[in-house]
Parts: sequence; structure tokens; C-alpha cells
Amino acid sequence: MSRTAKIVLNENEHELPVVTGSENENAIDISKLRASTGYITIDPGYKNTGATTSAITFLDGEKGILRYRGYPIEQLANNASFLEVSYLLIYGELPNAVELQLFEGNIKMHTLVHEDMKRFFEAYPAKAHPMGVLSSTVSSFATFYPESQNPNRNSEAVNLTIQRLIAKLPTLAAWSYKNSIRHPFMYPKNHLNYCENFLNMMFAMPTEEYVIDPVIVDAINKLLILHADHEQNCSTSTVRIVGSSQANLYSSVSAGICALWGPLHGGANQKVIEMLLKIHIDGGNVDKWVEKAKDKNDPFRLMGFGHRVYKNFDPRARIIKKSCDDVLEKLGVDDPLLEIAKKLEKVALEDDYFKERNLYPNVDFYSGIIYKALRIPTEMFTVMFALGRLPGWIAQWKEMTENNEPIGRPRQIYTGHGSRDYVDVSKR
Ligand code: SDX
Repeated sequence: MSRTAKIVLNENEHELPVVTGSENENAIDISKLRASTGYITIDPGYKNTGATTSAITFLDGEKGILRYRGYPIEQLANNASFLEVSYLLIYGELPNAVELQLFEGNIKMHTLVHEDMKRFFEAYPAKAHPMGVLSSTVSSFATFYPESQNPNRNSEAVNLTIQRLIAKLPTLAAWSYKNSIRHPFMYPKNHLNYCENFLNMMFAMPTEEYVIDPVIVDAINKLLILHADHEQNCSTSTVRIVGSSQANLYSSVSAGICALWGPLHGGANQKVIEMLLKIHIDGGNVDKWVEKAKDKNDPFRLMGFGHRVYKNFDPRARIIKKSCDDVLEKLGVDDPLLEIAKKLEKVALEDDYFKERNLYPNVDFYSGIIYKALRIPTEMFTVMFALGRLPGWIAQWKEMTENNEPIGRPRQIYTGHGSRDYVDVSKR
């Protein structure tokens, strides 16, 4: 029996349909509100507003639950490969052995980047942040593959674009790093798996082989899976709204990369390490920095803490924290920043300010420490987040286009001047 919500406006009662999802989440459908009442709703930051229905990722912020297509993140992170999870997010089911082999083979076919694109890198300054390089080079794919601009999006062309993007992003990411240290680019080697290939392009040199360490490969695989999707977060919403104008997938993902770069979003993992380093240099006085984070007059925030949705532990943070201990032990890395992070977490979690606001470590709090142990440079941390989030962006863009969702165009409440006449500059 369909349920409704009633609102009374100017003594008139209006009934609005209630939408209930497969996990019993409820929403009031306001898609006809303005037509029937003349009113709109307003919700800065969309904290209480659902933009769509989706069958890709379910998360419960209160219970700390995260599932991709129904599979708990803990099981996927501990058992699957990143390409398996990418296939699951994009096509809706875990691939069987034949489907996985075909998917992996198709991706290996496209790992090379058009040689003409190398000229872009010559133009960037050495200090160019890799996220700026990545967003612009990904956007330029649409010029190299004009068939991707086809708005009627037949599935064959879309799948080719998906394979190209998943295959080439690691190459571009590694090249943006090599470019920043002015080292020669390393080309993909297709006998390596996805994570091995990325690490090899990042750290191999023409003069010496890169020794593949399975501990590092496993940690990268797990981290990419943990970042793969997170329902309607800032960058994914960006991908969806850009794609809703029938912009191509490359342009939509390029916009998502830009949104992810922000320090309040994916850029937080780089800011966490910079924060821990600052605390370390300052003598490791964790209490002082927690007090600064609480002080409204101090712009300092505890990076890697808090979340729009999780009002409990971010389940990804738990897995990454455990993986942190394992990886640093296996690599024999004794990082003082990890000790500071653990102290910071303990102090914050016992502090009323953080408890009252349900501020817990999020996915970015520990990931930077592992990346640092894996010798990933700090400016590449958010690039690692983008590599992980790519299949989620693709899956959400594909779902939005297949559902023929309308172009995104929010309304507003105007608060500026009333009508007034132009005055010539000589009289102002
Ligand atoms: C990601 O959405 C996603 O799913 C994102 C993500 C994904 O996978 O895509 O999970 C990835 O972006 C994780 C978040 C990474 N960002 C950070 O770690 C940056 C630090 N965190 C904050 O800036 C903040 O917590 C946000 C941006 C994450 C969430 O901000 P909200 O939901 O808008 O919450 P808010 O800013 O309204 O804060 C509520 C209160 C405020 O205090 P009061 O006004 O109530 O007194 O909590 C305080 C804030 O001042 N607060 C913090 C804090 N985060 C929130 N105080 C100190 N340190 C912090 N980190």
C-alpha cells in the first residue's frame, strides 16, 4: 500500500508520495511539489535531499554499513580483485571466470595512451599537481576518441569508452608522477596485473627493474576497492550532473576528478599526512591540536575526521587501520606519524566535542599513512583515491544514462535586489 506524507500550506493540505527503498530507507517525493503548491524546498549541501534512486551502493551511516551491489565491503576488500569489483559495480554482478578474463583482457588492450598526449606533459610545470594533470588529460580523451561524444550512447561504444578509461587512468596517473620528477615515462606491461602494472609504471626506471612486492600489491588492491564507490558523494554527484546534460563519460569523470581534489573530499588524505607531519614537527602535542580543531575561531580542522553520512565509524577506516598495522609491520616501517594518528584518534574519540558531533576517523584518516609506507608521494594520494573511485563514477554515470534521468537543474530562492533602473556611469 503506497504511503503518503501530508503538508499544510496556507491552510491547504497537500499529500506527497513516500518512496521506500530495498533497505527500507524512506523519502518524500517532492518532484511535483512546485506544480501543486508553488513552493520548492531548500537544503544547502543537500544534507537531507536524495538526488536519485540507485541500485549500486548501500551505506548506513548510523550502523557503519557499506555494501557494493549487496556485497559487504569487508568481504570484497579481503577476497576480490579491484577489476572484479569494478565489473561488479559497473555491470551489477560479480563476473564468472570467463567474464573476468574477457574484462581483464579488454582492459589490457587499452593501457597505452595516444603518443600525441605526451606533448601535454611537456607543457606542464614540474610542480603541476597530478590531480590537475589528470583532470585535463582525462577530459582530452573525448577529443582523441570523438565517438565517445555520441549522445545516443549505444552499449558497444559505451563499453569501449569504459574499458579505455579504466585501462588508461593508471598510465596517466603514473606519467603525471614521472613528469613531476622529470623522470622518463614507463610504459604499461601487459603481463602484469592491474595494480602491479601501475606500481611498475610509477617506480620502474629504464635502468632498473621494479621488484614487485606482493604485500604492496595486495595493499593497493585493497585500498582501490575500499575507495571504489560511495553512493552520492560530492564527486559522484558531480559526475552525474555533468553526465545528465548528455556530456560524454570522459568529460563527466574529469569533472569528478576536479571535485574529488577538494580538501574537504578526496583531497583530505593528502591534508591528513600534512597535518600529522605538522603535529610531529610541533613536538607531537596531540592535545593542543585537538583543542585547536574544537576552537571555532581557529580555522584548523582535524583532517580525516568527520563525515557527511557516517555518524559512526567509517567501515573503510576500520579496514584501512588494520591494513596499516599489517603493511607497516611487513615492510618493517616504523612511522612516527602512525603513532601520532593513533594518539590523535584516541584523544578525539574520548573528547565530548567529537562525541557530541559523531566525528569519527573517515576513509582518509589512515590511507595516507599506508600510501606513505608504500612510497607513494603525498601529492599522489588523491590520485590514488581517483584511481579507486573510477569504477564507481562510471557505474553511477551509466546507471543515470540508462535510466534516462532528466538534466540536473536545481531551483533557488532569490535574495537579491528588487527591480531597479539602469543609471548612466556619469551619474553613479
Ligand atoms: C570523503 O561523502 C562521502 O561519501 C565522501 C567520502 C567518499 O568516499 O566519497 O567518504 C570521502 O570526502 C571523506 C571526508 C574527508 N574530509 C575530511 O576529512 C575533512 C575534514 N572533515 C570535515 O571537513 C567534515 O567533517 C566533512 C566535510 C567531512 C563533513 O562536513 P559536514 O557534514 O558538512 O559537517 P559540518 O561541517 O556541518 O560539521 C558538523 C559539526 C560542525 O561543528 P558545529 O557547527 O556543529 O559546532 O562538526 C564540526 C563542524 O565544525 N566538524 C569538525 C570536523 N568536521 C566537522 N570539527 C573539527 N574537525 C573536523 N574534521
